[in-house]
Amino acid sequence: MTSTSDDLATFIVVANRLPVDRVVNEDGSIDWTTSPGGLVTALEPVMQRKGGAWIGWHGAPDETVEPFHHEGYDIVPIPLSAQEVTEYYEGFSNASLWPLYHDCVVDPEFHREWWDSYRTVNTRFAEEVAKRAAKNATVWVQDYQLQLVPRMLREARPDLKIGFFLHIPFPPIELYQHIPWRGELVDGLLGADLIGFQTPGAAHNFARLAHHRDGVTGPDDSDDIATLSDGRVVKIKDFPISIDARGFHELASSPQVHQEAEEMRTELGNPSTIIFGVDRLDYTKGLRQRIRAIGELFDEGKLDQEDCVFLQLATPSRERVEEYKILRNDIDLLVGRINSASDTLARPRIAYRHTSVPRSTLAAMYQIADIMIVTPLRDGMNLVAKEYLACRDDDNSALILSEFAGAALELDEAYMINPYDIDGMKATIMKAINDSPQARAQKMRAMRQQVFAHTIDDWADSFLTELGE
Ligand code: ADP
Ligand code: G6P
Repeated sequence: MTSTSDDLATFIVVANRLPVDRVVNEDGSIDWTTSPGGLVTALEPVMQRKGGAWIGWHGAPDETVEPFHHEGYDIVPIPLSAQEVTEYYEGFSNASLWPLYHDCVVDPEFHREWWDSYRTVNTRFAEEVAKRAAKNATVWVQDYQLQLVPRMLREARPDLKIGFFLHIPFPPIELYQHIPWRGELVDGLLGADLIGFQTPGAAHNFARLAHHRDGVTGPDDSDDIATLSDGRVVKIKDFPISIDARGFHELASSPQVHQEAEEMRTELGNPSTIIFGVDRLDYTKGLRQRIRAIGELFDEGKLDQEDCVFLQLATPSRERVEEYKILRNDIDLLVGRINSASDTLARPRIAYRHTSVPRSTLAAMYQIADIMIVTPLRDGMNLVAKEYLACRDDDNSALILSEFAGAALELDEAYMINPYDIDGMKATIMKAINDSPQARAQKMRAMRQQVFAHTIDDWADSFLTELGE
């Protein structure tokens, strides 16, 4: 770990998460591990290329950590107390905003002390950025945990160029109006010069809301600019995020990953079909529906466990939030029930692991996956779908994708499913398995082309160019 320079930064990314998490082992030693989730996967290569500073929380409560230099940029950890982790992170961010922004797939809870904590922590982030940013620097604020930061920063440092990108969906106005502090949140975002969303629909939902704020004119359908009462202009636009496609491809093509893939396939008993799912263990990912559909296909004999395995990897996530605890138990039960219905000891129907793995192991899993299954009930983008495509050389494979993932707009050649329709999902899984090699290949080629033609560098460059203009 090297220390940071004393210079002020001309480019700053600010996100609740840092790319690395500080973990204290049982023997008291310290490790840094890669943080979970799509935001980190997407932004890491951007920061490695551009340099600058990444300001965020290091994942451990009640600990202050000095800034340090990491892979070409500075990391500036922001401390959170244990109470703030409960109220700001687990509470308002992940039990109020997260479910509400994902179409209320579970009920959001609202508590005034959670909101107070959200405001306090947003203020801390904004103050740290204001302290570290050079004159006229570009600051890129990320995601739903920090929606008040753009306005706070604008007030403290009007010289800055401020961009905001929301990695998750933005809900329709009818749901948004439930939030007791909706006005303050919208005004917080309007502090930015440019507000980016994953899809045109999300941008449109926000634009409709902005239009309802006092003194805001526009945007209308033909226009993605809102003008505030002081004459300042805010651009509102979609920028679908992507991945470092070449980086994933090179990793997946390496001899080590090929060997790991071979070993994994052998360990799974060399079945002719491996169906693969990988997600944070989150109720938005449609895991219950996916597992139920595949379980029924085994029960009905349409999938034969002598020949087919479903490999599901679930990353531990937000484990102290009630709905995540319930989900973990439900999935354990569901998988146990399906596997115990088997009449052979040889191989489980579902090989389920509740763990995070190194990226090379994940690439090996993508390599052995004949069928990739991605079933969110709602998802901002879903990078897993894009990673699968980038890691595949073999065209005789298939991506099953929920129509409710942002990625479905770009990857419309996928075998598309509605995760609420279990029978429809079962039929599509069987179609993906049984389609002709030519039909599968044509789909894979078209989607792979899309992923390689719109990479994470293109995403960052188009956002930052628009912000700079
Ligand atoms: P979200 O951001 O909601 O978690 P995404 O699909 O956009 O969903 O991004 C998830 C990211 O986390 C991907 O880059 C994926 O490779 C990574 N990931 C998910 N599960 C695991 C796991 N068990 N081990 C390692 N990486 C994982
Ligand atoms: C999604 C969110 C990110 C978040 C990630 C992991 O990708 O958009 O903001 O960092 O999930 O969740 P966590 O709560 O562990 O940071």
